[in-house]
Amino acid sequence: MQTATLSVAAPYLIEQDYAAYTAEQHAVWAELVSRAWPELERHAAREYLEGFSIIGLEPDRLPRLAAISARLKPRTGWNATPVSGFLPAPAFFEMLAARRFPTTIWLRSRDSLEYTPEPDIFHDVFGHVPMHAHAVFADFLAHYGRVCASIQDAWVLERLGRLFWYTVEFGLIRQEGEIKVYGSGLISSHGECKNVIEGGCAVHDFTLDEVVNTPVKVDEFQRLLFAVSSFDQIYDAMHAAEKRAAQGRL
Ligand SMILES: [Fe+2]
Repeated sequence: MQTATLSVAAPYLIEQDYAAYTAEQHAVWAELVSRAWPELERHAAREYLEGFSIIGLEPDRLPRLAAISARLKPRTGWNATPVSGFLPAPAFFEMLAARRFPTTIWLRSRDSLEYTPEPDIFHDVFGHVPMHAHAVFADFLAHYGRVCASIQDAWVLERLGRLFWYTVEFGLIRQEGEIKVYGSGLISSHGECKNVIEGGCAVHDFTLDEVVNTPVKVDEFQRLLFAVSSFDQIYDAMHAAEKRAAQGRL
């Protein structure tokens, strides 16, 4: 376990005991992937699909985090680091700044395939980690952590939390004239993804102003999401947000 660069997050780091996963758990992972895949092949961002194969995810077997990190590291310096569960904000930001994605290792059971109140390894690895292979997204996410780690103001953090929500969790991108999904909350939820694809959700062009002014909804399907035209846009938005926060006008 590497703890050298982490301080507030250190107590949350654990090991992934891969041998402890049961055949039933591998089967649940396989079912989750096979349910999601036909939609994602058509509707996920190109960069997500590329990331999926770059990190070597297997459709029929739970991922080994050390193997994923070994593939990610030379590309973007990111690492999928096992943690014990939900992290307090300072620990979460510290890990993002260090390019170590806090990754849960438990898996939902067969009777809650669609929804878990807290992230599990399907949400974290299948949903999030493929995007960490993309250089611009990877830099954006580390910068996000760095900036948030330096901010104390709860109101500013809430507005930056909306930027995270509408990109990392529920982000959309326009590619080849279509809306594609890249946010983990969409990738890892069949229902949320379907809601967007079937037009149940308004889609505005991404602007930093509208995003930081749009409160998040956690207990219902998303009704308004934002589409970027390229990942450079979120990278630039994070730099603009940093500047505005420093000037007290985010
Ligand atoms: Fe997430």
